[in-house]
Amino acid sequence: MSFKKILILVAPLLLLSFVTPQEVFSQESANCLICHSAMKGRLKTAAGVLMELNVDTDRFQASVHGFLSCTDCHLRFSDNPHSSPDARVPSELLSISSEISSKYPVDPVAAAACDSCHEVIYQKVLGSVHGRNITVKNQTDGALCLDCHGSPHYITPVKDVNSPVGRRLQAETCGRCHGDKELNEKYNLEENVMESYEESFHARKLHLGHTGVPLCSSCHNAHDIKSKDDPDSPVFGKNRLETCGKCHEGANEKFIPAITHKPAGPIPYYTEKLLIVLTMGVFAFIVLHVIAEALSDIRDAIFRKKEGSE
Ligand code: HEC
Ligand code: HEC
Ligand code: HEC
Ligand code: HEC
Ligand code: HEC
Ligand code: HEC
Ligand code: HEC
Repeated sequence: MSFKKILILVAPLLLLSFVTPQEVFSQESANCLICHSAMKGRLKTAAGVLMELNVDTDRFQASVHGFLSCTDCHLRFSDNPHSSPDARVPSELLSISSEISSKYPVDPVAAAACDSCHEVIYQKVLGSVHGRNITVKNQTDGALCLDCHGSPHYITPVKDVNSPVGRRLQAETCGRCHGDKELNEKYNLEENVMESYEESFHARKLHLGHTGVPLCSSCHNAHDIKSKDDPDSPVFGKNRLETCGKCHEGANEKFIPAITHKPAGPIPYYTEKLLIVLTMGVFAFIVLHVIAEALSDIRDAIFRKKEGSE
């Protein structure tokens, strides 16, 4: 066989080997999706938790993880109707999985599996005020990956306009919890956080399309979020010099208290009310004055007429 002929035979194969990984998603995912894209509706697990069996093929493929195999995250699953893969789950993932199983009861191993590729971020989240709410306080109210990034099968790049943590939707995503009255009472958190952000100069500019203004995560971090009383928090005391200083060059100690989520204190409150009363008063005075003057003009005109006719 001539070299040319070999080349003609081999070239398409070579080409295919370059094209395949991007164009075709994993065969194994395709196999799982034969059932999971066709099944609709929810099912109760043995533990009584509702789960959604449907995974949409197009949306999965279009997601940031579209090239992964289902079993990159689902390292094991129920033996009925499938048989679970034999792969041993790394002990690191098992230990995370047992810490977060109250939050993700259907498949805590899959929810822990993000750690195998995003380890640094995962450790930050576990150590954050949100992670510790689950691992230390044994509650389920704190945020883990899916509370902020949405369904595990349809995660979009954070720069995408439809990303729940992007410019357009981030405040809404944090607000699902931080605007919740009961949750704020339970953790003794400021009731006013969402309103004060929406009313701030920053959010108003954001809604006008300004791209340089801070989102929640610009002042609080995205993953390494701490209580405001924690000396490591970017909004604790003088740390704000650096936090505000990222955008406001030369921010000093007089400038940094300009932003808080607290409702305005009593002095600004009554000053504002007094100003309103004063303004209304002056306005009412002007109106009354104009009316009185008009009345006196009319009166004068009538009297003058009467005087003239006599
Ligand atoms: C023959 C159809 C079928 C195929 C193929 C299939 N599944 Fe399932 N899967 C099901 C059904 C039915 C359930 C509901 C099981 C139950 O009663 O809990 C399920 C449940 C699940 C669950 C829910 C959690 C659990 O452990 O039960 C996961 C995760 C899952 N499948 C992943 C996969 C993955 C990954 C693949 C490919 C390797 C796959 N499935 C292939 C039918 C299928
Ligand atoms: C990036 C990791 C990841 C990939 C890839 C992935 N999953 Fe999942 N999947 C998860 C996580 C996390 C959960 C949530 C587990 C929980 O809520 O307890 C989940 C839940 C599920 C469930 C149960 C639904 C429910 O309501 O909790 C099914 C069924 C499922 N996945 C099937 C699949 C199939 C089929 C594929 C491949 C097409 C796939 N998954 C790919 C991470 C992944
Ligand atoms: C409290 C909400 C929140 C939680 C919980 C959260 N994220 Fe994020 N994540 C964000 C925000 C906001 C951004 C955008 C950050 C930015 O623009 O700097 C982001 C960005 C990312 C990015 C891309 C940018 C980067 O920093 O590398 C990855 C990857 C990511 N998150 C993975 C995860 C994983 C994995 C988990 C769970 C361990 C998780 N996130 C938990 C809010 C969250
Ligand atoms: C097998 C490795 C792997 C696993 C497991 C995995 N990811 Fe990813 N993830 C990636 C890769 C690679 C990218 C970057 C894809 C790209 O840039 O197109 C990514 C991208 C992301 C992004 C978008 C980052 C950005 O820059 O916008 C988020 C958010 C994210 N992953 C969260 C998660 C969460 C949550 C889990 C667990 C449910 C998870 N990942 C599990 C490999 C993984
Ligand atoms: C410009 C910076 C900035 C932005 C943007 C910002 N915050 Fe804050 N946040 C602060 C500061 C500073 C504090 C410190 C406490 C105080 O004085 O109110 C704080 C405190 C908090 C607290 C603790 C409240 C308490 O006192 O109990 C929460 C919760 C919070 N922020 C959530 C959010 C959320 C959610 C968003 C987005 C909707 C957001 N923050 C946007 C600066 C910011
Ligand atoms: C799933 C619900 C949930 C989501 C989503 C969520 N949080 Fe929280 N967050 C909580 C809970 C609950 C606490 C209190 C935890 C505790 O004290 O144990 C908390 C605490 C905080 C605190 C510390 C408050 C203080 O000073 O004590 C900050 C700051 C914060 N969150 C910011 C954010 C930001 C920014 C986002 C969005 C990027 C966000 N959170 C998304 C539930 C959530
Ligand atoms: C991500 C960048 C960013 C961060 C972080 C940030 N700001 Fe701003 N801030 C802006 C932008 C952009 C404007 C609008 C400037 C304009 O259009 O005039 C603004 C406007 C303001 C204004 C009103 C106008 C002015 O310049 O006086 C105040 C007050 C302010 N910020 C205070 C703060 C404080 C206090 C912090 C820290 C707690 C902070 N900002 C953090 C970007 C930021």
